[in-house]
Amino acid sequence: MENETLETIYTRRSVRSYTGQPVPRESLIKILKAGMAAPSARNIQPWAFVAVTERGLLDGLCERLPYSKMLDKAGAAIIVCGVPGKDDVYGGKYWVMDCSAAAQNILLACHAMGLGAVWTAAYPNEDRMAIVRDIIGVPEDIMPLAVIPVGIPKDKGKVTDKFREDNIHWERW
Ligand SMILES: Cc1cc2nc3c(=O)[nH]c(=O)nc-3n(C[C@H](O)[C@H](O)[C@H](O)COP(=O)(O)O)c2cc1C
Repeated sequence: MENETLETIYTRRSVRSYTGQPVPRESLIKILKAGMAAPSARNIQPWAFVAVTERGLLDGLCERLPYSKMLDKAGAAIIVCGVPGKDDVYGGKYWVMDCSAAAQNILLACHAMGLGAVWTAAYPNEDRMAIVRDIIGVPEDIMPLAVIPVGIPKDKGKVTDKFREDNIHWERW
C-alpha cells in the first residue's frame, strides 16, 4: 500500500470479539487524543469522553445494553458524549456530527494500534442513553452518543472492499 494512513482507513472493520485482556491506560490516552483531534464546527469541541476499564462497570453495561454484548470480553470501553451546552452558537445542532467525527477517529486509532473496536449506539435511543447515564453517572445535560468497546482482537477479521462506483456522481447527480 502506498500510504499507511489510507491502509488503516481502508482496512478498519468493526471488531466484536476480544481476548478479555486489559487495554493499558497509555493506549487509551493515545486513542482519546485521536478522538480529540477530530474536526468540529467552529472548533468548539463539544465532547467529553468516559474511559471505562472497571470490570464491574463493563459487565453492567454489557448486561443492560442489548447491542453491546461484546463488552463481556472487552478490555475497556470509551463512551463518546456530546456537550450541547458548549455548542450554543449553533443552538446545539452540531454536537452529533462533531462527536461522530471523534468516534470515527477513535475507531481508526484503535485499528492503527492493533486493537479491535466497534461503535455501539446509545444516542438517539433514549432507553440506551438512560442505561449509560444510570451506570456511568453521566449528567442529564450530557449526551452519551456511542459506547465503543475496545479489546485485543480474538481473531483476524475479514476485510471487505466497500468501494461502490455507483455511489459516486461526478459533477452532477
Ligand atoms: C451510528 C452507528 C451505530 C452502530 N451501532 C451498533 C451497535 O449498536 N452494535 C453493533 O454491534 N454495531 C453497531 N454499529 C456498527 C455497524 O454495524 C458497522 O459499522 C457496519 O455493519 C459496517 O461494518 P464495519 O464497521 O465492519 O465496516 C454501529 C455503527 C454506527 C456508525
